[in-house]
Amino acid sequence: MKRALIQSSLRDNSIVEAFDFLRISPISAADCYKEAMDPVRNPYSPGAGTAPPALVGRDEHLERMSVAVQRLTAGRAERSVILTGLRGVGKTVLLNEFGRIAETQRWIHEHIEATEDIDLARSLAVAARTALLRLSMSGRFKERARRGLGVVRSFLKVRYTAPGGDLSIDVEPFHGVADSGDLDRDLAGLFRELGECAKAQSVGVMFTIDEMQYLPKIEFAAMIVGLHRIAQLNLPFLITGAGLPSLPGLAGEAKSYAERLFSYSVVGSLAPALAREALERPARDEGVSWAPAALAEVVRLTEGYPYFLQEFGKQAWAAASGERITAADVRRSTPVAFAELDNGFFRARADRTTDAERDYLRAMAAIGGAGPYRSGTVAELLGKTTPQLGSLRDGLIKRGLLFAPRHGEIDFTVPLFGDYIRRAMT
Ligand SMILES: Nc1ncnc2c1ncn2[C@@H]1O[C@H](COP(=O)(O)OP(=O)(O)O)[C@@H](O)[C@H]1O
Ligand SMILES: [Mg+2]
Repeated sequence: MKRALIQSSLRDNSIVEAFDFLRISPISAADCYKEAMDPVRNPYSPGAGTAPPALVGRDEHLERMSVAVQRLTAGRAERSVILTGLRGVGKTVLLNEFGRIAETQRWIHEHIEATEDIDLARSLAVAARTALLRLSMSGRFKERARRGLGVVRSFLKVRYTAPGGDLSIDVEPFHGVADSGDLDRDLAGLFRELGECAKAQSVGVMFTIDEMQYLPKIEFAAMIVGLHRIAQLNLPFLITGAGLPSLPGLAGEAKSYAERLFSYSVVGSLAPALAREALERPARDEGVSWAPAALAEVVRLTEGYPYFLQEFGKQAWAAASGERITAADVRRSTPVAFAELDNGFFRARADRTTDAERDYLRAMAAIGGAGPYRSGTVAELLGKTTPQLGSLRDGLIKRGLLFAPRHGEIDFTVPLFGDYIRRAMT
């Protein structure tokens, strides 16, 4: 039985016979024959925003965005999408796909990545400038796009002292559209200008904004109000974004507008069958198979989180031989996968924390189990009151390590972060 199995897994029976002749056990014969798998062909791609070898489980999102872009091109109304979810679930990858969908419909796509110190008005002006320059390439509509550039110039002029706000814009300012000094009004003017320029050319403009939770409340609200002001015009201009689960609450005063303008869509881990597909399909494309037990083990350890699937897939491939990934390969590579995650994905989040912040994170992890956790319980463990820890907790939320799913509750924005803290920080 064993021999038959080994023979069928070997390409050349004569090798088994030769080993038999030399009285070497066929098991070691099989092991000797198997070669380590080619690292160059390893398809798995852990990394922030790195396109996965198989984008699984997101068809509905992609389809909806494709319909939205087509509807707006046809002058119909459509709400924009904001993706929310934990770190490493694939928001950036999906946002990039949205941009690609827009581009395949000949739209112009500009990307903005928010940071803790972003100046949103300026970033939007930079994106608008680039979009208009690309629109102005087309000869027939050059004049219309040049007017748009003049609008951007005035928009900047009223806000920044440097001429053109330090952006080189080689046209005369165009007054009266986006230079009142009132940000929501001016953003509405800017967006309208972009939409109209694009519409004149039968195309559209999409801005994608990643890490939206970093947008300053006031500017974020102004952007939402600005979008709201032009919503009835059904112009082919769309802002789509992604951010941590704290995002919907951050829209603040503009919240009721935001709920009508955007549809919030939660991106999460992959259900077991999809997680298996995310591992199996890229291997199959390279002529490599996964043993069912190996797949089950990776899905169990990663809980279907896309970043972890890529990391475990990568390490399992590296440990495997003979074009098949077995449960033993997964077992051997698991410590390597965790070490890679701990030193990269997890540590990148924990690195800039103070001692007091780390104590807070440890207390959360000490509660154990899956979140969210009661902030009162965390405070008790630290021998403090909840208000005493308020600014510490807010700091961790602001920096994107934690979020408050409900009042009085707190959770990690990074999946399985509690396990990491228990492994590495205690
Ligand atoms: N649908 C998916 N299927 C498989 N892997 C994915 C999927 N989406 C993302 N990934 C992988 O997950 C990792 C994290 O993706 P990313 O978009 O950076 O997440 P986020 O922006 O939510 O933090 C990347 O390595 C990417 O290749
Ligand atoms: Mg991201």
